Amino acid sequence: MILAIESSCDETSAAVVDNSVVLSNIISSQYFHSKFGGVVPELASRAHLVSVSDITHEALDKSGIDIGSINALAVTNRPGLAGSLIVGTNFAKGLALKYKLPIVPVNHIEGHLFSGFIQDNNLEFPFTALVVSGGHTVIFLVRSYDDYEIVGMTRDDAAGEAFDKIAKLMGLPYPGGPHIDKLAKLGNAHKYEFPKPMLHDDNYDFSFSGLKTSVRYFIHKNFHSGIPEDVMPDLAASVQQAIVEVLTVKTIRAAKKYSVKSIIIAGGVSANSGLRHMMNVKCNQAGIKMVAPDMMYCVDNAAMIGFIGELKFNAQPDAYQDLKFTVNSNALRAAKR
Ligand code: KG4
Ligand code: ZN
Repeated sequence: MILAIESSCDETSAAVVDNSVVLSNIISSQYFHSKFGGVVPELASRAHLVSVSDITHEALDKSGIDIGSINALAVTNRPGLAGSLIVGTNFAKGLALKYKLPIVPVNHIEGHLFSGFIQDNNLEFPFTALVVSGGHTVIFLVRSYDDYEIVGMTRDDAAGEAFDKIAKLMGLPYPGGPHIDKLAKLGNAHKYEFPKPMLHDDNYDFSFSGLKTSVRYFIHKNFHSGIPEDVMPDLAASVQQAIVEVLTVKTIRAAKKYSVKSIIIAGGVSANSGLRHMMNVKCNQAGIKMVAPDMMYCVDNAAMIGFIGELKFNAQPDAYQDLKFTVNSNALRAAKR
């Protein structure tokens, strides 16, 4: 029985996981960052500090499990905002000391990587995973729970960052990804042609900063006194089409190259309806199974941390007595390619 805590960015979350079954998964999102146009790290860590204890109690209450029955803790310690990670890890360390529990430090990206298994435990290795969020856009080849490699990643902005920055140019609130998604449903995705960066390059990398610049020029040239309301849906749909097509085509190309039978998409941007749709259609055409986690497991959440934390703990139950581990805000960038 695992109690997991996640606080790497702007969601405070706690979950109880038992034998890969999620008994509770409480997520509290810090919506107040929207008035600053982005996550303010100092305010994020203060807000985690205010809510982490209540959220953890709520997760235990909802699961019906007493903390005395918990066998181990799992906590995100990398990558993420350092101050935010420190709040979650130190809270977990406090619980570990008080209740004499082992504690498994978990890589947040690994949490996203295996989040597809939470709802589909028939998913077969090896598979390709597209982890796509506000901070990351990475294609992994996953051979087992502890054997995976990066086969491609963004060279500049993450896809979520591109959604958010372009939404800002369009005058939409932060985070802009869900707003573009909503507008795109009403628009024509082929109305405007935006560049699809690196679509035809012979690699699995991405680049989104050029797209952002091209949308900026487009808006400046055509709508310098403001974008008319009736143009917004077509603009959103066309932008989304450019991002989603590159993500989909390159992930499927990687899946074919490594001869995998399944693709999982994960991370905040995997909630995008256009990405889910196009990936589904193109996977069907290619005879590849596609798994998109439930929305609750797309956003940052502690269930995915508990899920992988439990597997790590079961593999080496004596390895997690040490409380000396620290946080690392850039763990992914340091990952070997
Ligand atoms: O994984 P996540 O919750 O946090 C990070 O680790 O970054 O992802 C947040 C990102 C934001 O950039 C947000 O705009 C984007 O995910 N996002 C979406 C959608 N929902 C969230 N982007 C496009 N369409 C969506 N429906
Ligand atoms: Zn995330």
